[in-house]
Amino acid sequence: MYTGLWLSLGLGSACAVSGCSKPAARVERPPPAPATAAVVRPTPEQQAILATLPSPYREADLFNGQAKFALCKSCHTVAPGAGAAFGPNLWGVFGRRSGAASGYVYSQGLKSLGVTWTAETLDSWIANPRAVVPGTKMAYAGLEDARDRVDVVAYLKTVTMRPSKQKTPRVADPRRPASH
Ligand code: HEC
Repeated sequence: MYTGLWLSLGLGSACAVSGCSKPAARVERPPPAPATAAVVRPTPEQQAILATLPSPYREADLFNGQAKFALCKSCHTVAPGAGAAFGPNLWGVFGRRSGAASGYVYSQGLKSLGVTWTAETLDSWIANPRAVVPGTKMAYAGLEDARDRVDVVAYLKTVTMRPSKQKTPRVADPRRPASH
């Protein structure tokens, strides 16, 4: 079942160019996802990584996180030693001080932010980067949906740490039939 069904993650590059200049509208925390939402079955390794996160991140939908992370990928690399793209490399970002990836020139604001990246601090960051660091170089309006942020943060964890040497597998879409 792991063939040919992957969501294309090539979206979003155009947004990097245009800067995705939506106004940074903020919303109240939306209601949780309906109980009927299909659940992705993560691999044992992904499960082990998720288990290191607090709730609700540990129950996240990795497939949705993977899809929503496509836009982040237009500016960020995640593999170890992959180097900076438009934004800093995110390998090992959990537990790292903000503004500390080597070889990347941060904005003054992010350099002096002084937080440790955790599920919670990352969640607020991607909700509205400009609210956290006015003048940030991260030209990203923010991810409004709280559930999407939970999924992106959890997915980010699974691709920025790797207990084994194995490349993180793509997450299957449980909602799609086996033929396309
Ligand atoms: C348009 C390009 C762009 C997009 C899209 C983008 N980022 Fe960024 N990101 C940046 C830049 C540039 C910085 C550095 C900001 C600064 O120095 O002020 C950054 C900084 C960060 C940091 C801080 C890293 C550190 O070392 O302190 C994190 C974490 C991050 N981004 C995660 C994300 C996630 C997750 C997404 C998707 C939800 C995302 N970014 C989308 C460009 C982008």
